[in-house]
Amino acid sequence: KRVAILISGGGSNMLRLVESMEGDHPARPCLVLSNDPEAGGLARAEALGVPTAAVDHRPFGKDRAAFEAALSGPLEAAAPDLICLAGFMRILTPGFVSKWAGRMLNIHPSLLPKYTGLHTHARAIAAGDTEAGCTVHEVTADLDEGPILGQARVPVQPDDTPDTLAARVLTAEHRLYPAVLRRVAGGNRELLTL
Ligand code: GRF
Repeated sequence: KRVAILISGGGSNMLRLVESMEGDHPARPCLVLSNDPEAGGLARAEALGVPTAAVDHRPFGKDRAAFEAALSGPLEAAAPDLICLAGFMRILTPGFVSKWAGRMLNIHPSLLPKYTGLHTHARAIAAGDTEAGCTVHEVTADLDEGPILGQARVPVQPDDTPDTLAARVLTAEHRLYPAVLRRVAGGNRELLTL
């Protein structure tokens, strides 16, 4: 299986995904693609020998469809079987999502369906939650709403700040995403709970 990974920043999840795809793993990374030419993850992917590309979303302004048409060039050229959004911070149109229906995954830093959208850690702390975590789901037209493929739970400590909780959740993301990708690449979409 060929896996394309979309990033916007440092790409710590991308790195774990790339590093996991070795040996008898049924998938290999075919492209790391960013909406930001300056994304730190691009250099990390290149250091691992993974082809990279960047399509700056800014020149397209509010024309999401035009940006996605530009993104589809390198993406379709890489012919991925699966797309992993990993710290990808652009909202995708229903048209783009439907083209990749069932073949696009995302990791979100909350226990969905709680806290779709942004600032998930601050919201969990403000709500007094004692547990938080992350979710890998299939991407559908509704933001952060698709079928859940995996979740990992972490405790919320009384003295947690959004940053300390984010760091704990990110560590769980780095375990969960590779585990879910390996199962999905092998044809298993059963829910994984860590
Ligand atoms: C992090 O906030 C993570 O929780 C979310 O995307 C952001 C950046 O992740 N999934 P990464 O280090 O670029 O993978």
